[in-house]
Amino acid sequence: MNRKKFFLYMSFCLYIKLCAPMHVDQHSQQDESRSDNPGFYGAGDKVVVLSKLNFKDVIFDQEYGSYVEFYNSYCGFCRRFSPTWKELAEDVDTWRDVAIISAIDCSADENNGLCREFEVMAYPTVRYFSPHHTDPKKFGIPATGQERRALRKQLVNFLKNETIVPDHWPILKPLTQTNNKILYLDVKDIVEFIFIINLDENSTVGHEVALDLHSIEQILIRQVESEHIASKLGLTPKPSLTVVNRNNELIPMTIAEYDRRTIVNVIQRFASNRGIPTVINMIQVSTPKAALASDDDIMIRRQNEEIVNQVKNMRDVVFQADLEKALRYTLFHEIPKFNEIVGERKVALERYISVIYRYSPLGQNGKRFLQALREYVIESDEINGNLYEVKIKELERKFHPVFSSDRWVGCQGSKSTLRGFSCGLWFLFHYLTVQAADSEYSTDPLEVLHAVHGYVKYFFGCSDCSEHFQSMAAQQKIWSVTTKDDAILWLWMAHNTVNKRLRKDPTEDPTFPKIKFPNAEMCPTCRRRPLTYPNVNNKSEWDKNEVLEFFKRIYSPSNISRLGVENERALPQTLEALREKRLLRNVFTDLDMRVGIFLYLFCIGMMILAVKFFVRRRYRRKMYSHDFLGKV
Ligand SMILES: Cc1cc2nc3c(=O)[nH]c(=O)nc-3n(C[C@H](O)[C@H](O)[C@H](O)COP(=O)(O)OP(=O)(O)OC[C@H]3O[C@@H](n4cnc5c(N)ncnc54)[C@H](O)[C@@H]3O)c2cc1C
Ligand SMILES: *[C@@H]1O[C@H](CO)[C@@H](O)[C@H](O)[C@H]1NC(C)=O
Ligand SMILES: *[C@@H]1O[C@H](CO)[C@@H](O)[C@H](O)[C@H]1NC(C)=O
Ligand SMILES: *[C@@H]1O[C@H](CO)[C@@H](O)[C@H](O)[C@H]1NC(C)=O
Ligand SMILES: *[C@@H]1O[C@H](CO)[C@@H](O)[C@H](O)[C@H]1NC(C)=O
Repeated sequence: MNRKKFFLYMSFCLYIKLCAPMHVDQHSQQDESRSDNPGFYGAGDKVVVLSKLNFKDVIFDQEYGSYVEFYNSYCGFCRRFSPTWKELAEDVDTWRDVAIISAIDCSADENNGLCREFEVMAYPTVRYFSPHHTDPKKFGIPATGQERRALRKQLVNFLKNETIVPDHWPILKPLTQTNNKILYLDVKDIVEFIFIINLDENSTVGHEVALDLHSIEQILIRQVESEHIASKLGLTPKPSLTVVNRNNELIPMTIAEYDRRTIVNVIQRFASNRGIPTVINMIQVSTPKAALASDDDIMIRRQNEEIVNQVKNMRDVVFQADLEKALRYTLFHEIPKFNEIVGERKVALERYISVIYRYSPLGQNGKRFLQALREYVIESDEINGNLYEVKIKELERKFHPVFSSDRWVGCQGSKSTLRGFSCGLWFLFHYLTVQAADSEYSTDPLEVLHAVHGYVKYFFGCSDCSEHFQSMAAQQKIWSVTTKDDAILWLWMAHNTVNKRLRKDPTEDPTFPKIKFPNAEMCPTCRRRPLTYPNVNNKSEWDKNEVLEFFKRIYSPSNISRLGVENERALPQTLEALREKRLLRNVFTDLDMRVGIFLYLFCIGMMILAVKFFVRRRYRRKMYSHDFLGKV
C-alpha cells in the first residue's frame, strides 16, 4: 500500500478511536446510573462486603452462619450504626469459620432487586442466616437492637439454636450428662481438659468463650444451664468455672470476674502452663476481595472534589442536577424496592407521581415520561415492584433523553457516603412546594405536603428519618396549613428542625455544616435583626414574608443553576441557560479541558487532511472502495 493510502487509513482509525467514543459516551451515559456509592465498609474492615454478585455464594449453604446488615448508605442512622457493626465484626473475628459479619448496601442500584427480593423494609436491618440456608423464600431471622453486646448475644443465641451443625463448630448446647464419669464419652482423643462454665441460664458468656477458644483442639468448653445438672455433677454453685481432666477429676478454678475476657484469659493461662499452644488460629474463610479503584473511579472522585470546591460557598443556589438525580432515585430505586404496592402505599404513590408530574423540574421529554408513568400507576390496581421497574425503564428508553444529568452537584458530599440523596430529596421537596404555589393546577394548599408526607412515610428508605418526620408532622400540625405559601414555610421550618437535631452529628459533612437556613449572608432581610445573639430563641426572629420571597427567588426556574448538566436536550427551556454554561467549564480542571480541546482539534485536522487527500486522489485515479481498506 502506498503512503497516502496508509495515511488516509490511519486518520480514519484515529477518528474512530478518538472522536467517535466521545459522542457515543454522551448518549449512552444515561443508560446505567454511575455507581458512585462505595458504601460504608472497606478493605480495612472485618465486615464482609456483599453485593448482588456475591450474595448467594457467600451466604447460601455455607459451613458458617451469616449475620447480614442490609443498609442504605444515605441513611443517617445506618451511618451512625456502621461503627458498631465494624466493632462487632472485629469482636467476633476469630469466630469467622462459625459466623461471619457482612453487609450489603441497598442504596446501590445494582443491589436494589436483591433487597426487594429479601423484603427489606427498614434500614438498617440485621438478619441471621443459618449455615445451610438454601431456601430463597426464607429471608433470615431478624435481630433487634443497636448495641454491639446485644447483637453479639443474639448471634450466639442463633448459633446455639442450630440443630445441624458443622463438625468444626464448638459445642454450644448445654451439658446434659449428670455423671462426671461419662463427660469424655464421644470426645476426641486429642482433648485433654474440659472446662465447665456454670452461669445464669440466659447468659451467653460461656458460649462466647467456647467460640473464642474453639480453635484450640486440646480443650473443650461446655456450659451448664440447669441447677439440677450442676448439682448432680458436683459443680460449685454458679457462677463457677470447673476443669475436668482425663481422669474425670473436677478441679474448681478461682476467678475474679465471670466475664468473657477474664474467663478466656484464665483458661488460656491454665492450658499454656500445661504445654498446650493457646495461640488462637485465625481460620481463613474465603470471602470476596474489595474491588480496587479503577481509573474511572479516580476520575469521578477528582471531578467530585472539583464540584465540592466550586459549590461549597453556593449554598443558596439550587441545582438542576440535584433535583433530577433525587427525582430519578425516588422513581428508579426507592419505589421499586417494594414487592407489592397496594392500599395506602399505592395511594401515596399516586399522589407523589401526580405532584411530580405537575411540578417536575424536567423538560418536555420528562413531562411526557411522567405522564405515561402516572397513567400506568393510576390504571394499575396494584403495583408489583418488579414489573414497575421493567415498565419505568421501558418508558425512559421511549422518551429518551428524560434526564439531563446523573450526578450530585450542590449535594455532592466531601465524602462519598455523606449528603447525596437525602440532601437532594430536601431540594426536590422544597422545589415542589414553590412550584405549586405559583401554579394554577390546584388550589389545594395541602396537595404537595400530602405527597411529601406519603412519600416519606411509605417510600423513604431512611427509616428513622421517616419516623421522625411523621411525628414532627403531627406535632407541628402539618394538616393545619391553609395556603400554598404556608406549605413552603412549613417545609422550611421542618427542615430547620431536622438541621438543629443533626448539628454536630457524625452524619454532618464538615464541609457543609448544618445551619439555620437561610443564614444572614444568604438573606440579610430574612431575619428581623442582625444576629448578635446567635443562640437566642425568639419566635419573631424571622420575617416570614422575606423568607417566602427568598424561597421563590432561589427556586425560580430561571434561577436554577445548570452547573454540571450534560444533556441539554433534556432540559426545560430557559433563557438563562447560556449564562450558566460558562460556569460549567470551571468544574473540570484546565488540564481536562486542554486535553479535550486538543483531541477535538486533532480529529478535525485529521479529517480535513483526509478529505484533501481523498479529493486529490479522485483527480488522478478512480477510487475503488475495496482497495480502501482491503489490503491493509
Ligand atoms: C424528610 C427528611 C427527613 C429527614 N430526617 C432525618 C432524621 O430524622 N435523621 C437524620 O439523621 N437525617 C434525616 N434526614 C437527612 C438530613 O436531613 C440531611 O438530608 C442529611 O444529613 C444531609 O445533609 P446536608 O448537609 O446535605 O443538608 P440537607 O439538610 O439535606 O439540606 C440540603 C440543602 O438544603 C438547604 N437547606 C438547609 N436547610 C434548609 C431549610 N430549612 N429550608 C430550605 N432549604 C434548606 C441547604 O442548602 C442544604 O445544603 C432527613 C431527610 C429528609 C429528606
Ligand atoms: C430456633 O430454631 C427453630 C427451628 O430450628 C426456629 O423455628 C426458631 O425460630 C429458632 N429460634 C431462634 C430464637 O432463633
Ligand atoms: C431467661 O429467659 C427467659 C425467657 O426470656 C425468662 O423467662 C427467664 O426468666 C430468664 N431467666 C433469668 C434468670 O433471667
Ligand atoms: C424577641 O424579639 C423582639 C423584637 O424582635 C424583642 O422585643 C423581644 O425581647 C425578643 N424576645 C426574646 C426572648 O429575646
Ligand atoms: C433570580 O435571582 C436574582 C438574583 O438573586 C434576582 O434578582 C431575580 O429576581 C431572580 N429571578 C426570579 C425570577 O426570581
